[in-house]
Amino acid sequence: MTGTQPGGEAPLTTIDKVGEHEGQRVTLRGWLYNLRASGKLLFPIFRDGSGTIQGIVPKAAVSPETFETVKGLTQESSVVVRGRVRADQRAPGGYELDVDEVEVRQRVDENAPFPITLKEHGVDFLMEHRHLWVRTPRQSAILRIRAEIIKAARDFLDGAGFTLTDPPILTPAACEGTSTLFPVEYFGEEAFLTQSGQLYIESTALALGKVYSFGPTFRAEKSKTRRHLTEFWMVEPEMAYAGLDELMELAEHFIAFIVDRVLGRRRADLVLTGRDIAKLEAIQAPFPRLRYDEAVAMLNAAHARGELPQPFEYGNDFGSPDETYLSSQYDRPLMVHRYPAAVKAFYMQPDPEDARYALCVDVLAPEGYGEVIGGSERIASYNLLKQRIEEHHLPLDAFGWYLDLRRYGSVQHAGFGMGIERAVAWICGLDHVRETIPFARTLNRMYP
Ligand code: 4AD
Ligand code: MG
Repeated sequence: MTGTQPGGEAPLTTIDKVGEHEGQRVTLRGWLYNLRASGKLLFPIFRDGSGTIQGIVPKAAVSPETFETVKGLTQESSVVVRGRVRADQRAPGGYELDVDEVEVRQRVDENAPFPITLKEHGVDFLMEHRHLWVRTPRQSAILRIRAEIIKAARDFLDGAGFTLTDPPILTPAACEGTSTLFPVEYFGEEAFLTQSGQLYIESTALALGKVYSFGPTFRAEKSKTRRHLTEFWMVEPEMAYAGLDELMELAEHFIAFIVDRVLGRRRADLVLTGRDIAKLEAIQAPFPRLRYDEAVAMLNAAHARGELPQPFEYGNDFGSPDETYLSSQYDRPLMVHRYPAAVKAFYMQPDPEDARYALCVDVLAPEGYGEVIGGSERIASYNLLKQRIEEHHLPLDAFGWYLDLRRYGSVQHAGFGMGIERAVAWICGLDHVRETIPFARTLNRMYP
């Protein structure tokens, strides 16, 4: 067989890097993912967080103790293994390991085995065991892609002259509408978990020019859709001296950069999740743009042809079937701009050409993955902003500081927010956001 002798040099490495050690003996630290036996041959599959690799343990080539140890290994037992790396065309990662030494750190008791076996489990069971589910290859791949998306978002903005400014999470007032706030008791006063860092980064944008925030945000809306979490992560760029056109340009280059980065660095993980990669390769700026009214006309025409069951009620936000229909018309994200001001947030700048519309944009991901970005130009006029705060019955005193931004050097400014989980769902091709974040918080889930 290999002739490898236990005890020789065996540098520590990870499964994703074994290719750098072809023909050499290495040490891997991980867990047993699966074990097959065929007569005098054992085929343990190990995982270490960077990938999985199949080991080969022929009875004739290892000590009797090593053979028995591997033979008795249970799923998810933690092990340090040593062996020689061998290229194999048929192996999923291109390499196998001729194992000669195994140290068991903790052997899982076979009378209380790892609850997630390789057979199918229902998603409720898996979510109840999310703390263990994250170990399975597909879930680990999704988490690596999530990390890449976050890094890409930050690298893009850092490289484009944006400064990260962290807004508070405990806030005195609403940003996106009062019905969706989580109240918290704050030394005898009522405070809220933030819905968006936007209002605060409008302040830092007027200080630093181009800024962004990246952090957790909270929405108490009681929606049970496959796109809503109560706690999610948002990246929000904000620019002074910029309007809707610059914002849409930023959005398309931002998204194209992120997709390109994931394709370049996480291709194997995309394949593992079963993603149709050709669909992602089509994501290039510029993106198609439609006014809200044009999108409504498309929906009505589709309804008239019998392609949509419901007629669209003008003035509404798009529902999920509407978004799916609209986005299915294009192979790139669709930017829908200039919604009726009445359906959008209080801070949006009205279109100077027709004040019934807001200078805002929603970016709808292709293939029916829904809205990934929402943004707008902000009201720059003190008087108009004050009037909107009053019309929306928001507490004026809590917005004193926000109005100050329109008193001292007010300028045109604009920004957007991208929900990380929506972006992960789209890029990984997941039909529910619960798998896009390590521990999802939804209307009916707080455990684990
Ligand atoms: O469209 P939204 O509500 O916009 C804002 O919060 C703005 N203040 C952002 C800004 O202009 N700086 O949210 C922005 C994005 C949505 O497009 C969506 O991707 C995501 O955040 N999002 C959610 N993701 C998961 N669960 C929820 N409940 C979400 N609500 C919004
Ligand atoms: Mg929105």
